[in-house]
Amino acid sequence: MDGRPWTVDDRPQTADHRPQKAAELHAFLRSRRSIRRFKTEPVPEDLLHRLLETAIHAPSAHNLQPWRFVLVQNATARERLGRALTDKMRADMEAEGALETDIAARVERSLRRLSEAPVVLLFCRDTAAVRDDTPEEHHMGVQSVANAVTYLLLAAHAEGLGGNWICWPLYAPAETRAALNLPAAWQPEGMLFLGWPDETPGEKTLRAVEVVRR
Ligand SMILES: Cc1cc2nc3c(=O)[nH]c(=O)nc-3n(C[C@H](O)[C@H](O)[C@H](O)COP(=O)(O)O)c2cc1C
Repeated sequence: MDGRPWTVDDRPQTADHRPQKAAELHAFLRSRRSIRRFKTEPVPEDLLHRLLETAIHAPSAHNLQPWRFVLVQNATARERLGRALTDKMRADMEAEGALETDIAARVERSLRRLSEAPVVLLFCRDTAAVRDDTPEEHHMGVQSVANAVTYLLLAAHAEGLGGNWICWPLYAPAETRAALNLPAAWQPEGMLFLGWPDETPGEKTLRAVEVVRR
């Protein structure tokens, strides 16, 4: 990165916007992995912005673009989020009859991962921006947000960043919204931890493509 404002035109591309070598794009897409250990170096703000600007190009049902993002940057917000998520985690585990040692270990690990992530990016579905009145429309909204998150993960990967999709806020949406003082219509769907990778994930076994033809 040279620090100057970045535009889409900076990408190497042919006139029709396809990558010059499709094989390179395939190899790139196949090389993305979840990264759970990060270096402590911060992620520059303009880089984060670029990821978000790319994420919003994802397809969405009815083109409603229901994704909303929350960069949890200040220490108080991060602490409040951690407490909200792990209080709910604890309550759920207690209700399931889990052992106190297991609960304490999970809470401690979760708080540590949250505090060590260089970037915590919550993503929400704006229920005021979609028709959420049928199961089908609900699914389309969720799928649309997921598309943007996948775009963002891939854009991060293109920058050499690593990311991990975290589902915890799904289990405590109201608590998450309250902890971060979010609009009532923003439904937390999950969060991403992002940062410069400090691990090489092990091999992943892929299930074979399952496709039927009719
Ligand atoms: C919807 C969704 C939720 C996920 N939630 C978590 C999570 O809470 N914690 C975690 O460590 N990884 C989470 N992951 C990451 C998956 O574990 C990971 O993508 C999967 O094991 C495949 O590995 P890969 O991303 O390296 O290809 C989630 C991924 C998705 C798509």
